[in-house]
Amino acid sequence: MDKLTATMGVLMINTICTLKCKKCITQTPYHKNEQNYPFENLSKEIKTFFDIYHFVDHFDFEGGETLLHPQLSNLIEEALKYKDSFKTLNILTNGTMLPNEKTIEICKNQPILFIIDDYGVLSHKKEALMALLKEHDISFRVDNYHGDAQYYGGWIDFGDFSNKNYTKEQLQVVFNKCRSGNCGAPYIKNGKMLLCPVQASLKEAIPLQKNEYVDLCNDKISIEEKIQIAEKFGEAPIYACNYCLGFDVNSERIPAAIQLTAEDLKNINKDVIN
Ligand SMILES: C[S@@+](CC[C@H](N)C(=O)[O-])C[C@H]1O[C@@H](n2cnc3c(N)ncnc32)[C@H](O)[C@@H]1O
Ligand code: SF4
Repeated sequence: MDKLTATMGVLMINTICTLKCKKCITQTPYHKNEQNYPFENLSKEIKTFFDIYHFVDHFDFEGGETLLHPQLSNLIEEALKYKDSFKTLNILTNGTMLPNEKTIEICKNQPILFIIDDYGVLSHKKEALMALLKEHDISFRVDNYHGDAQYYGGWIDFGDFSNKNYTKEQLQVVFNKCRSGNCGAPYIKNGKMLLCPVQASLKEAIPLQKNEYVDLCNDKISIEEKIQIAEKFGEAPIYACNYCLGFDVNSERIPAAIQLTAEDLKNINKDVIN
């Protein structure tokens, strides 16, 4: 069976962060047991991903805050084993911290792009990070997420993740307008490969549905079977769409990275599963 291609693949390497963004797409502050996923699990996920995908334009490390992962340099090394299968390995970071020396060494002369999300005063290490990457000739891009001219017009409000009880027709409309749904770009979280960040950040009460995800680390499922499920990604709405407003690029935007207050943090439900 032929391997697949996709515009991108995303690997969530952790669910801990230096910030507490209220409307974070990956629901990072709402996780039950925030953590760095173990290196062994993540390296297996990377290997199996590239057993399924022959090529993606970019492979992204996401979180949480990626630079908090204590084995980031090892993870980069693992992903670079497959560098013929992507144009760039993107490392998304919020500009609040710097990579360690080992990470800088591994990144030199490699197809790596740091994407620095600039959340204004929150991204207080942005200038130092840019200077460090420049010094070592490592590529980076800064996406502006503060003030008036925000990248892509700002963030999207995905709603409160409650069940919208859509009719079949309404569900199809939400899905048709959804960027994640349409591009079918796989999203890996804790051993499972899914269709989108919303499906990846479901709450305890919302079960994953058979054939809507690939159990990447389950060796009892053959690569062929994994490919068969993955090639259907993006063809039709999934159960999680019932809980979403859709990743509609034309939807109204909200300012990025509004922080939960100390009071909010006391009251929120930490019910998103890892
Ligand atoms: C969840 S963050 C993780 C990486 C890192 N902590 C950061 O913030 O850059 C991954 C990407 O999702 C974007 N993002 C987060 N919440 C979003 C939302 N509600 N709408 C659109 N993009 C969002 C961030 O700006 C970032 O580019
Ligand atoms: S969007 Fe905010 S809370 Fe979410 S992972 Fe990035 S910096 Fe952390």
